[in-house]
Amino acid sequence: MLDAEVRELMQPFVLSDYQVQEVYSRFCLEVARGLKRSTHPQANVKCFPTYVHDLPTGDEMGKYLALDLGGTNFRVLLVSLKGHHDATVDSQIYAVPKDLMVGPGVDLFDHIAGCLAKFVEKHDMKTAYLPLGFTFSFPCVQQGLKEGILVRWTKGFDCAGVEGEDVGRMLHEAIQRRGDADIAVVAILNDTTGTLMSCAHRNADCRVGVIVGTGCNACYVEDAENVDLLRADLKKTKRSVIVNAEWGAFGEGGQLDFVRTEYDREIDEKSLNRSEQLFEKMTAGMYLGNLVRLVLLRALERKLIFKQSSRRPEFASVLQRNEEVFETRYISEIEDDSFPEFASTRKIVKNLFGLEKASVEDCQTLRYICECVAKRAATLVAIGVSGLVNRTSNRRVIVGMDGSVYRYHPKFDAYMRQTLQKLVKADKEWDIMLSEDGSGRGAALVAAVASKTK
Ligand code: GLC
Repeated sequence: MLDAEVRELMQPFVLSDYQVQEVYSRFCLEVARGLKRSTHPQANVKCFPTYVHDLPTGDEMGKYLALDLGGTNFRVLLVSLKGHHDATVDSQIYAVPKDLMVGPGVDLFDHIAGCLAKFVEKHDMKTAYLPLGFTFSFPCVQQGLKEGILVRWTKGFDCAGVEGEDVGRMLHEAIQRRGDADIAVVAILNDTTGTLMSCAHRNADCRVGVIVGTGCNACYVEDAENVDLLRADLKKTKRSVIVNAEWGAFGEGGQLDFVRTEYDREIDEKSLNRSEQLFEKMTAGMYLGNLVRLVLLRALERKLIFKQSSRRPEFASVLQRNEEVFETRYISEIEDDSFPEFASTRKIVKNLFGLEKASVEDCQTLRYICECVAKRAATLVAIGVSGLVNRTSNRRVIVGMDGSVYRYHPKFDAYMRQTLQKLVKADKEWDIMLSEDGSGRGAALVAAVASKTK
């Protein structure tokens, strides 16, 4: 049985039906404001048009390189599209050292080009001409498929000299500086677009792409006539366009203040990007572990957990010393654990605090804290997804999803479905599908579809 006081501690994370409805209405309003030219400058959900107008048919063919920057890792991929909805992907992960994440932008791009050159060399492709799709998962204003002006860094990146610049050009220049491979940057895309494209490659009804990983964002297919920012000629000739919502920034106009907790405020205050990406800070993997850490600290202080132990002050100082000590993946592991053994939970407690045998009650309390934080995140994500699904003109809508939180959390999908059931209009038929390699296959598909329609 859970302590009434533990329930009370977590109450601010439990969204009431009224709060869910209210966040939903505010979100829908922000999307509409992002799309309209007159309100776009003030809107927090920017809804950037992507210049991707056509979904894949499944017949796409050819070899493409793809780069994936924007999560925990940086990856280089070689994608062979084989027609018949089929593709093979060969990839290599490279670390992005922490100092590069906040150093001069040129160094970051030189590092990327260096990894790319190694990959091409290893695959014996130095002499081949290779089109490249660059999955660059940060907010960008696009003026064409090949250029993306970085609006702001998110997710712990803060490299000087890149905001306001075209990242396609910066990558191209870094490749030229090395001069050792014939690689052409043919498309820049967001990871959400990659997710949508890779899911649409397998299921023609996919209209929404969502990432809940290090960051949190979504894109969807919008009727071209509703996207004021789309170039006039494209508005006339294209029926639809993928819109990158950049919903992570939702709440920057105060729309979420009525549901944000003291813990959310603390996370924001100590972040690199203060007052920015407030929705993301409640939903994404980069922040969820830290939220649990802060709640745990409060629980220790109020003697609601590890009641039997005299070492509580010591546990608190472990949590205070390092913001990243409670990793987001622990949330998934703890919620996946079985009662009453709690083998993984006890292991995590032991690693964190050196406490040998956490009691069943302690494990239950910890699990409840994780559950409330994750469930709120899933509910918020589902509110956003419902808003986008309800906007699309299709009756049947598949939502393509990816990201470590969605992928590895045992109940994120189920939590999301509960809210989607409440909010998606009754005349829509919807489902969620997991994306396979959106950043790789998706990038290749964007490059392929773009070259087909030229
Ligand atoms: C951040 C980025 C966004 C990306 C998301 C998921 O929100 O701003 O572009 O899609 O993270 O990686």
